[in-house]
Amino acid sequence: MQIVRQLGPLREALGVIRKTKRKLGLVPTMGALHAGHMHLVETAMAQCDGVVASIFVNPTQFGEGEDLDAYPRQETADAALLEGAGVDLVWTPTVDQVYPDGFATNVSVTGVSAGLCGGSRPGHFDGVATVVAKLFNQIRPDAAFFGEKDYQQLAVIRRMARDLDFTHDIVGVPTVRDADGLALSSRNAYLTPEQRGQAVALPDTMRDAAKSIAKGGDIASILDEAQAKLLASGFHNVDYFELRNAETLENMTVFAKPARLLAAAHIGSTRLIDNIAVA
Ligand code: PAJ
Repeated sequence: MQIVRQLGPLREALGVIRKTKRKLGLVPTMGALHAGHMHLVETAMAQCDGVVASIFVNPTQFGEGEDLDAYPRQETADAALLEGAGVDLVWTPTVDQVYPDGFATNVSVTGVSAGLCGGSRPGHFDGVATVVAKLFNQIRPDAAFFGEKDYQQLAVIRRMARDLDFTHDIVGVPTVRDADGLALSSRNAYLTPEQRGQAVALPDTMRDAAKSIAKGGDIASILDEAQAKLLASGFHNVDYFELRNAETLENMTVFAKPARLLAAAHIGSTRLIDNIAVA
């Protein structure tokens, strides 16, 4: 497995891979890999002839006061996992390879990026769309794999790919969870053991709320009660707890399928997100 950090060697390495691998998959990540990321890699391996994984902690998607500097970096362990999974190439560019001096372009997706994480993290999805558009151009994959864990991100990327004529497949992969139901996240590493115990309230509360909504309960009061439950379970702040159309991400006040519950909440200084289908 090759690990490449500069654009010149990337083009060379891709040229060699392209000679023997017909369908090339891309799995973009920010590293600190866990079983959720590796499920994307396994899905890509199953659907493609070759797989490129990228590791880049993208500064433009972190807001002021967010955890850019503290974000876990563990390249050696990540490389070992990717190699074990059979990945062909790891693209882990230096910041200047992605944002050269004078970089002045921004990819901004409206509509699906409004509200939810777009509301609580202004500029976040511009950073995501810009770096993902660059990764698509740098790698030119036939399919790119993203987790449903970041549901709004997946919607933003699908919209961006349609709008900018990226014609390769965008594949959404279901969320991988710990045994107790907490969605795997690189940020779970920030939780103390006590907070980790409390954090399960997020998936538990979402599952209960989804059931009540599917049974026809009053949406506004179910969402209010769910937020109150989170605050009573050790969460300090709920950024949002909302029911949305699962495809357009438009707000939903009367339940109709396809529907998705999406939430973000802080436990200590750690911000956790999750989402589930309401069926
Ligand atoms: P990162 O948070 O490292 O996530 C990389 C990919 O792994 C994303 O597509 C994310 O949705 C997926 N993922 C994370 N946790 C998961 C889980 N528990 N189950 C399934 N998939 C999971 O998302 C990013 O990086 C960045 O925004 C990126 C797209 C790389 C752009 O910088």
